[in-house]
This record gives sequence, C-alpha cells and structure tokens, in this order.
Amino acid sequence: MCEQENITQQSEPESSAQGESIGAVVYFSSVSENTLRFVQNCDFPSNNVNVYRIPLRPKEPELNVREPYVLIVPTYGGGNIAKAIPMQVRKFLNNRENRSFIRGVISSGNTNFGEAYCAAGDQIAGKCGIPNMYSFELTGTAEDIEKVAQGIPRFLKQLKETEETK
Ligand SMILES: Cc1cc2nc3c(=O)[nH]c(=O)nc-3n(C[C@H](O)[C@H](O)[C@H](O)COP(=O)(O)O)c2cc1C
Repeated sequence: MCEQENITQQSEPESSAQGESIGAVVYFSSVSENTLRFVQNCDFPSNNVNVYRIPLRPKEPELNVREPYVLIVPTYGGGNIAKAIPMQVRKFLNNRENRSFIRGVISSGNTNFGEAYCAAGDQIAGKCGIPNMYSFELTGTAEDIEKVAQGIPRFLKQLKETEETK
C-alpha cells in the first residue's frame, strides 16, 4: 500500500517583498479593517517583508505560513482577557507548523477596554513563548507606524542572520 505524505502547501503572500524576503508579517483584521490600514501604512514589502492575512471567514482557504514572522493581532475579548485572541487567529496558531514560525507578536486594541487593552499580545506571547513587542490603539499614530515599519524589518534581519549562523 502506498503511504500518502501529508504535504501542506505554503500560501502565497497577500503582498510580496520587493526584493529577497527577510521574513514576514502575518496579520488579522475584521470587517472594520483598522489593522489592515495600519499594516498598509507600514509598507512592509518595500523593506523586503512578505505580508500574509489570516482569513476572516471559514469558507476562505486556510493560511499556511512557512517562514519566520511577526504576528499583528487586534484584541477581541470585549473586556474578557481570557477571550482576547480572535477565533480565526486561534485556529491559525493551532496549526503546529504555523506556530513553529512565529517569532514575535504586536497587538492592538482600544483603551476603552481598560485592563483588557491589547490583552491578545500578552496571551499569545505567553502561549507561544515569544516576545510581546509592541501595542497600538486602533489604526495607530504616525509614531506607531514609523516604529513598527522600521522595527519589524530590523528584527527579522537580525533573526535571519542569527538563524543562518546556527
Ligand atoms: C466586539 C469587540 C470586542 C473588542 N474587545 C477588545 C478588548 O477586549 N480589548 C481591546 O483592547 N480592544 C478590544 N476591541 C477593540 C479592537 O481591538 C479594535 O477596534 C481594533 O482596532 C480592531 O481591529 P480590526 O478593525 O482590524 O479588526 C474590541 C472590538 C470589538 C468590536
């Protein structure tokens, strides 16, 4: 009998790095698209970073990422810290292969939620054993965009150099 290998194909980025890729940003954004706008404003592909979007609806094809990435995630617990991670992001991270490439997390939220502000970042950092790198409100300020647009490529570049010399 022939054994079938379980090969999962890597998904195509939503926007591809302009030069050779140094790593990726994976993000989730609901219909309000605040995080989408933040990610677009950061223009990661011009700094050689691939961008992938976690599907919003169950009918869309699953996302499979097979390169090191930083996750950008809005908080969706309605003030309940234990429910802070959007279910689509939970599903993506429940895939062991996807989870094995996460290197950091950046979270967003709304300060109206008090103690649960940006709680998804802490939850994911704790569960995956990776740094909680930054947080911002809604679509982020010009300063947030500048810091993240520069910080992620710098972080991924360092990581690539370290992982290549291992
Ligand atoms: C139903 C709902 C629950 C939310 N819960 C939280 C929360 O617990 N903590 C927080 O900081 N922000 C919370 N937010 C704010 C969102 O994280 C914020 O609006 C974010 O920018 C949404 O990103 P998106 O438009 O890309 O989906 C919540 C928003 C909604 C609509």
